[in-house]
Amino acid sequence: MVRTWFSCLLWSVTVGLQATGSNENILIRQAKESDYVAITDIYAYYVCESISTFELVPPSVEEISRRMESGKAQGLPCFVCETTAGAIVGYAYVRLHNTRAAYDCTVDLGIYLRHGEGETAWTGKGLGRRLLGELFTFLRAVQLPRSHESGRSGQRFLQVMALRSRFHEPDGEYESAPRGFYTSVGFRYVGTCTKVGYKFGRWADVDYYQIGLDEVRD
Ligand SMILES: CC(C)(COP(=O)(O)OP(=O)(O)OC[C@H]1O[C@@H](n2cnc3c(N)ncnc32)[C@H](O)[C@@H]1OP(=O)(O)O)[C@@H](O)C(=O)NCCC(=O)NCCS
Repeated sequence: MVRTWFSCLLWSVTVGLQATGSNENILIRQAKESDYVAITDIYAYYVCESISTFELVPPSVEEISRRMESGKAQGLPCFVCETTAGAIVGYAYVRLHNTRAAYDCTVDLGIYLRHGEGETAWTGKGLGRRLLGELFTFLRAVQLPRSHESGRSGQRFLQVMALRSRFHEPDGEYESAPRGFYTSVGFRYVGTCTKVGYKFGRWADVDYYQIGLDEVRD
């Protein structure tokens, strides 16, 4: 409880970081250990205030570090957006879609920009598109060794899934990623699971989107 309160407080005192008018001076690079505090902070806002994630309690820095290091050990990247002042204002990563071995070529996307409103907003400046560009370029370059136990050869990761949640009632409130985002960056809508989440005392549906990495345009 104390940890939840502290995590929520952490994001609320840092949301004032000023966003710039464009994303040109933002560096996109792979995440490193020193970024995990900022990642924890960015994510805590969405846990506490949105249904972008179905987690109910913001994870600690230690837990985020564990998840990131575990992803890295599986060859699954995380990219961050860094301002010229060294602030981390967004991140995107992938995790295996399912731990069953035959799903090894399919990953789920997570992407979060630091919350802000008006002049402090980082959304709508092309950062999401740039993060995905770097992530997809990385994923397409990962090749399977000939000896891989799956028997497949060539590109390791083939499919990326993205989930977009919204409350079951059709009032549009508290939607997560903007409706047009995934399709704008090349994903196609593949279906909806209804009432699979329950958060803030309400049922939530999840829309699934998918993109084949061989369909990604450079
Ligand atoms: C989802 C998210 C990462 C998008 O990042 P972003 O930087 O705002 O998106 P971009 O500015 O790169 O937009 C990319 C495309 O999406 C479309 N898009 C973005 N916001 C949109 C909106 N509100 N309505 C319609 N289309 C939109 C744009 O058309 C844009 O295409 P264009 O370049 O051809 O104009 C950001 O909104 C976010 O962090 N949301 C909260 C966290 C979340 O819900 N994450 C998803 C769950 S993991």
